[in-house]
Amino acid sequence: MKTGKVDVLLGLQWGDEGKGKIVDVLTPRYDVIARFQGGPNAGHTLEFEGQKYVLRSIPSGIFQGGKVNIIGNGVVLAPDLFMNEAKELESSGHPLTERLYISKKAHLIMPTHRILDKANEVAKGKEMVGTTGKGIGPTYTDKTSRNGLRVGDILENFEEKYTLHKKRHLKILTSMGWTNFDGFEDVERAWFEGVEYMKKFKFVDSEHEINHILHEGKSLLCEGAQGTMLDIDFGSYPFVTSSNTISAGACIGLGVGPNKIRNVYGIMKAYCTRVGSGPFPTELFDETGARIRELGHEFGAVTGRERRCGWIDLIQLRYSVMVNGVTELIMMKSDVLDNFDTIKACVGYRLPNGDYTEEMPYDISGVEPVYKEFKGWNTETSKFKTEDQLPTEFIQYMTFLEEFLDTRISIISLGPDRDQTIVRN
Ligand code: GDP
Ligand code: IMO
Ligand code: MG
Repeated sequence: MKTGKVDVLLGLQWGDEGKGKIVDVLTPRYDVIARFQGGPNAGHTLEFEGQKYVLRSIPSGIFQGGKVNIIGNGVVLAPDLFMNEAKELESSGHPLTERLYISKKAHLIMPTHRILDKANEVAKGKEMVGTTGKGIGPTYTDKTSRNGLRVGDILENFEEKYTLHKKRHLKILTSMGWTNFDGFEDVERAWFEGVEYMKKFKFVDSEHEINHILHEGKSLLCEGAQGTMLDIDFGSYPFVTSSNTISAGACIGLGVGPNKIRNVYGIMKAYCTRVGSGPFPTELFDETGARIRELGHEFGAVTGRERRCGWIDLIQLRYSVMVNGVTELIMMKSDVLDNFDTIKACVGYRLPNGDYTEEMPYDISGVEPVYKEFKGWNTETSKFKTEDQLPTEFIQYMTFLEEFLDTRISIISLGPDRDQTIVRN
């Protein structure tokens, strides 16, 4: 049977690796770009021609002409936020309606899901996850408990269904003692406006749409959101998101068979960041961490929160390469390390009981990283266009990562702009 190729691109750390930028760079090679999980908790930044865009629910293939972009069944969608995002793109000269399809099976994030998200966090107290507050967890909870509201529901008796779900949510909130509903009516009004706005897009059975396209020999790039360490199964549970962010999530979130997947592009920063709570073995609490944050502009694209910064963690990355079946690595933001005398990489963990391991343990809280040190390259790399311009120390660092992770780095990103990218032969 004739079939086109399916590649997956996803984050290997705790999110914000630079997925949006690279999806945009790779889009010319594909016919279709699709998001398969997550929702407006994502913030994918793209820069080109002096403009900067942050995408939350819309795939990052939307800026390259003539491509179909799909919001897959595995995604959770907030109509009001989607409307704001789409309108902003359209007003900046990027028409969407003809080339953005939405799966009927994608679940809707209701206004009450966002309140539930907050109420759950408050109830957890100091154990809070530090969610983005976008209602992601409660929406996926309703999906798995078979109480969800889907895009396809918009087409029939929608208000009736909405009211039933809302009543159920309000009961839960009352039982939790939640009383703060400030501004709820305005939010609800904007949400319904968003639902109306969504109707101008093509609601599709995206599994059929995608498999038809593949059958025609066309190609698909699946765009991951969040990162492997935020995966509901393999991440640093319970400080994770509520979806499967790993490569297998693309099969579930789009309806493509695992035998169709060819390349898995794993994206990593040359260092590491994390937003929200939870363990982060290589986190730096000193001036070096603050310097990385400043130079890397490590502030959340969605919430503006400070990102926690630290050295690259090769134990964590080797685990991510394993669970995703990564075939090619993409190294981002190494330019941020341009002026460091010493660069460190974690190559082992000292466990709280004193044992040493080079394998990801069940629980990473309290582990002490064991580092290998590298001499920094002390060279401005952001203007480099070819691999042979890269300094020796840079090549040494990169080669060590490739050997440790047993995977080739095929793309190097040296700045936020589309053009600041070296694709290696
Ligand atoms: P995503 O969620 O994985 O798409 O990543 P984010 O957009 O949340 O965060 C990545 C940030 O780094 C954005 O502000 C990008 O513009 C920026 N960025 C991406 N690649 C590079 C790079 O190679 N160098 C630098 N300095 N910044 C980059
Ligand atoms: P992109 O796609 C970084 C984090 C939150 C929190 C945890 C759970 O831009 O890489 P949620 O709202 O999903 O229930 O929050 O996950 N988180 C992200 N961190 N990048 C993201 O997306 C994230 N999406 C969620 O900070 O710790
Ligand atoms: Mg992001």
